[in-house]
Amino acid sequence: MNELISSFSQQLEDAYFNFQKLSLSSFLDKNRNISNIVMVGLGGSGIGGNLVQTITRSLLKVPYQVCKTYNLPSYIDENTLFIASSFSGNTEETLASLEEAQRKGAYIVCLTSGGKVKEIANQKGFDLVPLKSLAACPRAHLPYSVTSLLLLLNHYGLIEIDFEKEIKETVESFNQKDEIIKKEAKQLAIALKGKFPILYADAILEPMLIRFQQQINENAKQLCHVAVFPEMNHNELVGWHLPKDILSKTHILLFHSDYDHERVNRRMEICENIFNKHTTAITHISAKGNSFLEQVFYLIYLTDWVSYYLAEENGVDPFPVEVINYLKSSLQ
Ligand code: PA5
Repeated sequence: MNELISSFSQQLEDAYFNFQKLSLSSFLDKNRNISNIVMVGLGGSGIGGNLVQTITRSLLKVPYQVCKTYNLPSYIDENTLFIASSFSGNTEETLASLEEAQRKGAYIVCLTSGGKVKEIANQKGFDLVPLKSLAACPRAHLPYSVTSLLLLLNHYGLIEIDFEKEIKETVESFNQKDEIIKKEAKQLAIALKGKFPILYADAILEPMLIRFQQQINENAKQLCHVAVFPEMNHNELVGWHLPKDILSKTHILLFHSDYDHERVNRRMEICENIFNKHTTAITHISAKGNSFLEQVFYLIYLTDWVSYYLAEENGVDPFPVEVINYLKSSLQ
């Protein structure tokens, strides 16, 4: 897992260079007028879709929805760009959605390393972005899949980003800060040992929090809770009335970026005073970087390392996800 997390920058570069070698169709060739995007992927193959949604929120020319179940929204038709993402290519929810998208005539592109998704993509001539088999660990592909998804949207003319510049800057900044990031991650993991992490941020950072939650679940083998501002001000805040022994087990992590709404910043300040009446375990984490993309990548890289070090603290192997495999085989 150590090497997989360390390969973050390399994956950004690989995704960029490999993408240039793909032969993808373009909407212009097919005379399609894409009016919406639907992405389907579960777990480690789905979170990239949520991250891309927040990264492109002010760039996208059409609505974009991420689905994580068997059924698709009823509006899907031949003007939908449908993205099926499954590392193994055999995830049943993704396959069910892919079948439905085919029936409805959507324009289909697949991200996979093999399985049935690859078979279908090859048979039907769908656009295909191959994922390398990085130790058969879907969640370790995130930098590759996010970059590939962004490049796809760029290729189809649905967003415009100067990727070469963005990726170069992110890689340079990671290389300079690598040791500092790992040190911060290690300290955080030590602070989180034996605690129930509660992650809060502006809603624009929600996918990063969910990624961190999933990494804590799968790598560190423990539960974690996520809620975002301003929504949590309208419900969850009232729930901060737990018995003292449970409160002493919580640790709040407040995430910030330069792109948070100013009213959310104010809300967070007021809420911190409220939280302080219940728990003293509050840590602030600020994203670093010159663009939103860079800040997103920074938070993912930092929190991936936190989950890795937390696994060490918990004395567990971050790699296996036996219970997921058990569940999948029980469903067959
Ligand atoms: O990390 C994991 O193994 C899971 O979250 C998987 O990504 C998830 O079960 C979906 O499988 P796949 O990525 O093969 O579609």
